[in-house]
Amino acid sequence: MSISTMAINRITASSSASPPLKPSIASPPPPTSLPVRTIPGSYGLPVLGPLVDRLNYSWFQGAEPFFKKRIEKHQSTVFRTNVPPSFPFFLANPNVVAVLDCKSFAHMFDMEIIEKKNILVGDFMPSTKFTGDRRVCAYLDPSEPQHTQLKNFTMDMLKRSSTVWLPTLTSLLDDMWDTVESNLTSGPVGYIVPIQKFLFAFLSRCIAGADPQNSPDMAENGWLRMDRWLAVQILPTAPINAFQPLVEIFLHSFPYPYFLVSRDYNKLYEFIEKESKEVIERGQTEFNLSKEDTIHNLLFTLGFNAFGGFSIFFLSLLSTLGSDKTGIQEKLRKEVREKMGGKGLSFGAIKEMELVQSFVYETLRLSPPVPLQYGRARKDFKLSSHDSVFEVKKGELICGYQPLVMKDPNVFNDPETFVADRFTKEKGKELLNYLYWSNGPQTGESSASNKQCAGKDFVPLTACLFLAHLFLRYDSVTIADNSFSAVEKAK
Ligand code: HEM
Repeated sequence: MSISTMAINRITASSSASPPLKPSIASPPPPTSLPVRTIPGSYGLPVLGPLVDRLNYSWFQGAEPFFKKRIEKHQSTVFRTNVPPSFPFFLANPNVVAVLDCKSFAHMFDMEIIEKKNILVGDFMPSTKFTGDRRVCAYLDPSEPQHTQLKNFTMDMLKRSSTVWLPTLTSLLDDMWDTVESNLTSGPVGYIVPIQKFLFAFLSRCIAGADPQNSPDMAENGWLRMDRWLAVQILPTAPINAFQPLVEIFLHSFPYPYFLVSRDYNKLYEFIEKESKEVIERGQTEFNLSKEDTIHNLLFTLGFNAFGGFSIFFLSLLSTLGSDKTGIQEKLRKEVREKMGGKGLSFGAIKEMELVQSFVYETLRLSPPVPLQYGRARKDFKLSSHDSVFEVKKGELICGYQPLVMKDPNVFNDPETFVADRFTKEKGKELLNYLYWSNGPQTGESSASNKQCAGKDFVPLTACLFLAHLFLRYDSVTIADNSFSAVEKAK
């Protein structure tokens, strides 16, 4: 199936793929006038080059300094390097072209020049045994017919869930906070487990129509079973700086076999098969999917995309609130209560909360939950950074590291600082063109023709609802070391 240019996300329409940088925040020369430069950097000696890069990335330097040091060395935000996993037991090719500014990263969204087949976490792909011996939506390129079926199915699921999203969220959050409050009487309460339990119940109910309360095992262990299934897939590519060299030897040297989590996955499969009958039937009748394709894809969307993404995102949201020294809680509380005007929480009220939205976007900018994105060159093409043009050859793997891309000084003023109101007012809203956490601009449209996150609108909205609910219930919360240590009830 050829990809219609008309259908491709509007920001990625031209083959030069530069986002429409505004003259005020972009480098002035048009791409054609930029000098053509050979991509700097090299892959080093066979085996040794990838090994040295891997140790620097995962151990000696860490991911962000690894990329930063190479930007300085090559005086370029585009260069060649190796990324893990590699030697000794991975068959993956670690060679990539790193793209580390907003302009070069945006080529990733142009489906005319970028292929997204099997590269969700890079050239290494976890075994399809983790997903019922099939390639689920996130590993499919838009040119594959099943991508259209599955992406439309996911977007339909999300759209239908919008009627239950808000009441489910508020009732489960009330339960979570009641438990946290009662446990606070005996000291600080770690927030990772309550948040994950809440997310598992909330997402299962909204997305899959499956209530974990109907299964004692899922109510108690569903979140943990999801965590274990996720961890075993992503461990080989997750940068972990602690406990070295043990992590390098035992976690980053070979892929983990599926049998370690097969019991967990089978339990999750049984739960969805039993409790999501309506959604499964729709997958079969309206989207022409087999029952097995529907369930495995539903599980991947629920577990890997939604539960995995939200787990990381909500933890950064809370730690950002906890580490703030600028009195942001008071400002957020004031806005939430003013805009609510004594009425119940609603999607409409959230639209009025400019600061709450901006706080959420700024958290996504500085802590993008999915830090790495990959794309393979579908054909030879010219890739522009702010200052140069580079020739990329068909088949080369492009790798973008978002935590650095989102600190592009050509786009964001004072890029390293958390500025809670950065995305407010007209100028702030324009910056949403360059907020890429969802593998596309926040102003873009997720569709079957692109690879932008299907939850692009639901994710920030849900985070806003979470904050609004929090500041209706509490005047403030004290957060430190992944724990709630005190909550001050709304007066
Ligand atoms: C904080 C939460 C989330 C984050 C950070 C996140 C992030 C992402 C990213 C970065 C991608 C693109 C990956 C790539 O191809 O390189 C993606 C794709 C995807 N996401 Fe999300 N996501 C989140 C929540 C959700 C939710 C709630 C859903 C749906 C219920 C969802 C469904 C999907 C799907 C189906 C894809 C694959 C899109 C395609 O194949 O075209 N995500 N997500």
